[in-house]
Amino acid sequence: MQIVLLGTAAGGGFPQWNCWCPTCRVARRSPARARHRTQSSAAVSADGERWFLLNASPDVREQLSRLPFRTPAGVRHVPVAGVVLTDAELDHTLGIALLREGRRLELYTTCAVRQILETDSRLLPVTRAFAEVNVVELPALGGPVSLAYRGGEPSGLAVETFPVPAGPPRFAGAELPGHTVGLVIRDGATGAGFAFVPGCGAIDDGLVARLSTVELVLFDGTFWTDDELIRLGIADRTAREMDHLPISGPNGSLVRLSSLPVPRRVYTHINNTNPMLIEDSPERAEVERAGLAVGMDGMTFDI
Ligand code: MLT
Ligand code: MN
Ligand code: ZN
Repeated sequence: MQIVLLGTAAGGGFPQWNCWCPTCRVARRSPARARHRTQSSAAVSADGERWFLLNASPDVREQLSRLPFRTPAGVRHVPVAGVVLTDAELDHTLGIALLREGRRLELYTTCAVRQILETDSRLLPVTRAFAEVNVVELPALGGPVSLAYRGGEPSGLAVETFPVPAGPPRFAGAELPGHTVGLVIRDGATGAGFAFVPGCGAIDDGLVARLSTVELVLFDGTFWTDDELIRLGIADRTAREMDHLPISGPNGSLVRLSSLPVPRRVYTHINNTNPMLIEDSPERAEVERAGLAVGMDGMTFDI
């Protein structure tokens, strides 16, 4: 199974269009010191040709142009076999409407996420005006649910879902169970798996146990400190209040993830204010000393 990090920035990308925070300033002035990133998404494939997207970002067009697949013989070719969603946030779902030229789209979502896309953001009715949208329902907790190719054949990959501590999107009309989940994708042929958790407000022992069963963890790297946005004067909520466990500090994600018995642990969904985006920063060095990596667009893993 091959995994590609298509985008590793949180909503807004890096640098963000309207942001002149210290990190965005470095990215504009010295891009080699703080490499630009698109909004978070990943892709997984069992055959290196047909890809399942994990979330569909507003940058999906640019991201798909970097996915490996053979030059097609026909006039049209859809390398996306399906899209698996963790939640209905805009940075994870606007790409659905942007894939409408595919004429048919297979979505794997929980009932709660589907409901928000139907009635709150209305991305599904909008997309359905252009393309057939088939939804395969995922449980809020459970699986495995097999991921199938567009012709219906099983890919050999399967997804397990589990709720993570988070609130629903601000525009959600109701708080339904399963509005935000983490994913474990496993290859049935080898049993190998990886976890994709781009938004998570806390890590408890149950989550640690679950993450300990995989070969690769892709985890919420949104904020370095809890008061990151408050100190910059650009928000009045802490990272935890925004359902993103900060990386640093005694109760941060770095301490919890550094002792996880998983060979590769990588942060993704990194906000543009996060100082670890700067390659030569002490924060970057701290992450790497702890045995984790800061995700970058294009990073590829074979497990
Ligand atoms: C988040 O990661 O908390 C959301 O994507 C927030 C947003 O969409 O602005
Ligand atoms: Mn986000
Ligand atoms: Zn910024």
